Amino acid sequence: MVRTGAQSYGGPTHSAPTDRRGQIADNLAVHTAIEERFFYPAVRARQIEENLEEAYDEHHDAKKILLEALHDPDAAGFDGKVAALKGAIEHHVAEEEEELFPKVRKLLTSEALDALGQTMEGEAAAMMDAGEPRPVPAPVLLPPSLVVRASS
Ligand SMILES: [Fe+2]
Ligand SMILES: [Fe+2]
Repeated sequence: MVRTGAQSYGGPTHSAPTDRRGQIADNLAVHTAIEERFFYPAVRARQIEENLEEAYDEHHDAKKILLEALHDPDAAGFDGKVAALKGAIEHHVAEEEEELFPKVRKLLTSEALDALGQTMEGEAAAMMDAGEPRPVPAPVLLPPSLVVRASS
C-alpha cells in the first residue's frame, strides 16, 4: 500500500490476479498511472519541479525493471530483477513521503488534498476492479480547482 498526503490507494481488490508477477505489475501500473494522471499534475509548482522530475524518472525506471522481469519471467535473473524493483520502489516511496508530500501539504489546502485523494482512490479502485490494469488508460484532464499553478 502506498499513501499520498491525504489518502491511501493502490491496494489489491477481489479481482486482482493471484500470481505474484501480476500483482506486482498491477499495483505498479495503478500507482504510477494514478500519480502521473492526477497527483503530479495537480501539484506541479515551481518549487517542487525537481522532486516531480525525479518521481517521473523513478516511475520510468521501475516500469523498465518490471517489463524486463515480465518479459523473461523464467530467466535465472528474475529474482534479482524483483529485488531491484523492490529496492527502487522503496527508495521512491521514501522520497515521496519524506520530501514530496511535505511540500505538497504546504501547497494545497486540506480540502483540495482530500478531493484529490478521493479522485485518486476512486480511479485506483476502478482500475483494479476492471482487472489487470495494463495497459494504462489515456490521461484525463484535471478540474482546474485541483491544479496548482507555478507562481511567476
Ligand atoms: Fe510514485
Ligand atoms: Fe507514491
